[in-house]
Amino acid sequence: MNRQEEHSIYGVMARFDTPTDVVRAARDANAAGYRQVNAYSPFPIEELSEAIGFHRDHVSKTVLLGGLLGAAGGFALQYFTSVIDYPINVGGRPLLSLPSFVPIIFESGILLAAFGAVLGMILMNGLPRPYHPVFNVPSFKRASRDAFFICIKATDPKFDPARTRDFLAGLGAKEVTDVEANLRSLTLLLLLAGVAVSGSACRQDMHDNPRYEAYEVGSHREIPEGTVARGALDTNPSAPKLEQGASTPAATPSPAGATAPTVTPAAAVPTGEDGFPFKVTKAILDRGQNRYNISCLPCHGALGDGNGMIALRGIRRPPSYHDERLRKAPTSYFYDVITNGFGAMSNYADQLTPEDRWKVIAYVRVLQLSQRVDGAALSEVDRRHLDGAEQGSKAETASGEGNQSVGGQGNQ
Ligand code: HEC
Repeated sequence: MNRQEEHSIYGVMARFDTPTDVVRAARDANAAGYRQVNAYSPFPIEELSEAIGFHRDHVSKTVLLGGLLGAAGGFALQYFTSVIDYPINVGGRPLLSLPSFVPIIFESGILLAAFGAVLGMILMNGLPRPYHPVFNVPSFKRASRDAFFICIKATDPKFDPARTRDFLAGLGAKEVTDVEANLRSLTLLLLLAGVAVSGSACRQDMHDNPRYEAYEVGSHREIPEGTVARGALDTNPSAPKLEQGASTPAATPSPAGATAPTVTPAAAVPTGEDGFPFKVTKAILDRGQNRYNISCLPCHGALGDGNGMIALRGIRRPPSYHDERLRKAPTSYFYDVITNGFGAMSNYADQLTPEDRWKVIAYVRVLQLSQRVDGAALSEVDRRHLDGAEQGSKAETASGEGNQSVGGQGNQ
């Protein structure tokens, strides 16, 4: 027998017609010293596996091995996390606390034991095996219908093609066939695997598709016409534009000398710490009054005396603008209060643009002036207005109301 022949056949197969025959043949083969014997039958035959000397399998060992590995792994994981990598002292309990490790050790042990059982079963069955050489025998189809087979494998130490064939024929086999080794289908399988692997290597993913790089020409969308960036919209289009750089020196408004509420524009531009960043005009004061009435009046009152409706309803009463302290306070102080808030008063930076803050302050100055104007400094026309207002106010006082109208506290 040459090696070529030995390797090109899987074994020798014999067919029998009855279970009794096949069991007897199996016993004889076993007795004759053949150990690599397999038997095939359409239904289970208890004695058959005994007859061919079927050994106990080793699955229980892989289960044990898996279980031990799992338990050890579970312990190692917990030991690493709670003792080495991230030790946390919980109520002084020891870091290595076996009782608390038990559930996970148990669970991971069970898990890997189950894996061991499944994997061990699959591997010991020689799976996965898409095709088995015994199917090369044409009559083997009947193994699931009405025929009984015994196959002595070429790997058996006692195997010799010619002698084994004769031996099987001598046992009363109806048919004795060589079983071709399964090289053909093996090659096919390898080929298929090769195709599958190489096919999976050429794929195109989204991360390397043809695309624009950042800042590449054409990579960004043009901003549609008329788009305004957040916060860049001029929400106060009615506000008069500032006359940039038009600030001219003028007297600081003081009780002793300036203008009446109907301000003469040029005279109302203070400088220094008490200055405004623009020339105060009638339009600016109108705007200031408009904003003051919206944002400040509810608390500080129409006169700035702190008697706004909100304060009257019980919210903390603001100090009067006519206090000595606030009359002396520079405009920058008011700007600071509006921008950053003061004590119980929240800031108004969101409601008022910087430009409008200055305009409100200009109007606050007017309010302060309105209560302490020096009558002698007034023009003839203004004085007559003031007198008229005073008389009106007195008439109202007589009728029992309006005792706080503008000019009611003017001097003399
Ligand atoms: C919701 C009510 C409320 C509104 C509206 C309000 N304030 Fe006040 N303001 C107060 C209160 C209350 C105080 C006193 C705060 C404190 O002493 O804790 C105060 C204090 C002030 C002070 C005095 C700070 C000091 O030194 O005592 C100034 C100035 C002032 N506010 C300006 C303004 C201006 C200008 C506006 C409009 C933009 C305005 N406030 C809007 C309630 C308000």
